[in-house]
Amino acid sequence: MPAVKVPATEAEPVKRKLKKLGIYDGKRRPRREGNFVLLPVTDSPQVQGMGYEVLDVELPLRPERQIYKNLETVLADRLTPEELKYLRRYDVIGDIAVVQIPRELRHRVDDIVWGLRKVHPFIRVVAQKGFHEGAFRIREYSIIWGERRLETIHKENGVEIKVDLSRAFFNPRMKGERYRLAQLVRDGERILIPFAGVLPYALVIARYKRVRITAVELNEEAYRLGLENIELNRKRLKGEIEFIPGNAFDVLPELPTYDRVISPTPRDVDALALTLSKAERWLHYYDFVHEADIEDFKARIIEACALQGKECAVKVKKVSDFKPHVFKVCADVEFTKAKNWS
Ligand SMILES: C[S@@+](CC[C@H](N)C(=O)[O-])C[C@H]1O[C@@H](n2cnc3c(N)ncnc32)[C@H](O)[C@@H]1O
Repeated sequence: MPAVKVPATEAEPVKRKLKKLGIYDGKRRPRREGNFVLLPVTDSPQVQGMGYEVLDVELPLRPERQIYKNLETVLADRLTPEELKYLRRYDVIGDIAVVQIPRELRHRVDDIVWGLRKVHPFIRVVAQKGFHEGAFRIREYSIIWGERRLETIHKENGVEIKVDLSRAFFNPRMKGERYRLAQLVRDGERILIPFAGVLPYALVIARYKRVRITAVELNEEAYRLGLENIELNRKRLKGEIEFIPGNAFDVLPELPTYDRVISPTPRDVDALALTLSKAERWLHYYDFVHEADIEDFKARIIEACALQGKECAVKVKKVSDFKPHVFKVCADVEFTKAKNWS
């Protein structure tokens, strides 16, 4: 079966491109060979035109997945159609599956664990996410199956991210968003990331671009994990990351301005004026906004820019749904006429 041979450093972007073109063969696993990766592709004429060497190789089929497409299919024989409606979306973080089990399915926990293990045979822990959120946006979890730990290494966008769900915030659903930002960034930029957590944004951007990133985080546990993550990925990173512990509202005023600021703002924190003041060309500001208020949100940003003597163009993108009609959004702010424009 065909596979394209790509340099390991380009494997992630090429894989995405292949998926976008619909010619990536997800039924087989890629294989590392020295400094190259063999990516499985379908038998399509498009593959030849991509400029990569195409080989005929046996790549192993992904176990189980080809049979069990998703949890709902797997559980269709065990749960009633009524019960299946209560199944919630779940996350797989490293080898931990994180689920929310509503009251209506509590008697089906064993079946759900069985189904998760069928769909994801590599998981070693199934944790139930509590509804209550503590300091630093950390949820309460209870382990319902497997090893008694909430620490794992999550692979995403070509980096490894050590996370500990009991100590620091991490959201695997932002994978696409992190990749989007890494594509926008250009080599040579200086970037500031307050509210940096265990450094997922910084690592993904530094993985692909020769940039200098300064990141700031208040939670000491997230800071410690972030430092470990820099070491864990050291050999993969093109860019440099400086990580500063502390409160963004104390630290940022002491820092210079940057080409780009990325603010994964915690909920209910208003860091707009602070982050705008540090951005020379671009700001990516995350917030939670009701869909009816998106135009007001844009207007608020334009007004905040004007107050700082800047003109800006703002595009607001819905990143994920949060609750009915309320979205996590990212405002991509570009300064059209900035104070120190060169
Ligand atoms: C929404 S999370 C984002 C974390 C990370 N960027 C990510 O995407 O995984 C917000 C982060 O901001 C941190 N935080 C909250 N208040 C802060 C403050 N005043 N200064 C610096 N970091 C803060 C929290 O500990 C948390 O890690």
